[in-house]
Amino acid sequence: VTLDVEAVRAAYPALSDGAAYLDGAAGTQVPRTVIDAIAAAYASGLGNVGGAFPASARSAAIVTACRQAVADLVGGTPEGVVLGPNMTTITYKMALALGATWEPGDEIVVSRLDHDANVRPWVQAAERAEVTVRWAEVDAATGTLPVEQYGELVGERTRLVAVTAASNVIGTRPEVRAIADRAHAVGALVYVDGVHWTPHGPVDVGELGADFYVTSAYKWSGPHIGCLVADPTLLARVHPPKLVPSPDEVPWRFEWGTPPFADFAGVVAAVDHLASLDPEAAAGGATSRRERLLASMASVEAHESALFASLISALDSMEHVTPYGPASRRAPTAFFNVDGWPPDEVAAHLARRGVNVWSGDNYAYELVTALGLRERGGAVRAGVVHYNDEADVARLVDAVAELA
Ligand SMILES: Cc1ncc(COP(=O)(O)O)c(C=O)c1O
Repeated sequence: VTLDVEAVRAAYPALSDGAAYLDGAAGTQVPRTVIDAIAAAYASGLGNVGGAFPASARSAAIVTACRQAVADLVGGTPEGVVLGPNMTTITYKMALALGATWEPGDEIVVSRLDHDANVRPWVQAAERAEVTVRWAEVDAATGTLPVEQYGELVGERTRLVAVTAASNVIGTRPEVRAIADRAHAVGALVYVDGVHWTPHGPVDVGELGADFYVTSAYKWSGPHIGCLVADPTLLARVHPPKLVPSPDEVPWRFEWGTPPFADFAGVVAAVDHLASLDPEAAAGGATSRRERLLASMASVEAHESALFASLISALDSMEHVTPYGPASRRAPTAFFNVDGWPPDEVAAHLARRGVNVWSGDNYAYELVTALGLRERGGAVRAGVVHYNDEADVARLVDAVAELA
């Protein structure tokens, strides 16, 4: 079903500032329902959880609803949803906990395609545990992460394979399932960075073969919250450092200190917003939120693919522009350079034209080096999300054309 983009855009107050928001890969805007849900949570009266009074029970109910919403979004189990401030913090915590179980001579596999948040926490944990780090390389010519290399990289001593579901700059979607199968054959755990991919299409953590799947709500129309999804029986075997009096139950023991309860209400509203994007799904009998999400995210994927096709073909056709990234199997995110222009200056020019994009390495540190773009200052990143339209793409294309 085609998205009603005009109606979608009207739901986002921030879009009325007139800019073309092609910076969704760094964080999306939020719909009015998310803003209202956060305000309503505060207005209702909240308390810390575990108290005998109603405001405390309201916070506890919000936490439960938030875990369920995130589980619905990615096909997980609510009891296995860990909430935190962002993906980076959660991943450092998991690296601390998992790394403490590694022994000298063990191995882990990370990739040069990944955002540094799914690289450095593991590399640093490996250094502490005297564990060997093996690197999956990117084919710079095609922008792919060849899956065959995992046959060599993964062995009997492999404890963990960390890989992204999609590159946050060139959009590449590695064959995560095949990588996970290889890892599982030797008993290794698979930690999938779903931060970039989650807003762009249906997700099923089981189908991906992810033992751990991380995603950040602020990339899919929610507040600044990170989430990790795993099987609760796996989490029960993992012991992060924690305060003595804080709960030891899963998933609570992974959550340090007092969380932003009102923001969790915003996460629920964001998931409900995504589930509503295909109104025909509800009318057609897809009644569970999970089913509505699958239908809605398929519509999102179709809408974004069409927009991205026109964006990338326009960039491809400009002689003064060099786009990077694979020809297929990619998230709708463009990464490109303009002849004679440092990426930061391109971004500044686009900003003057009311087009919001990012430049640099966007923390895809290893990838930008592997692509040979470090000296050049990286590249310009422009991506589409479900609330973008043809007018946004046209403004980007026109402004880039001016730089010829
Ligand atoms: C692919 C990817 N992984 C991880 C991160 C880090 O996420 P967070 O800001 O939630 O720590 C980002 C943020 O841009 C990202 O795009």
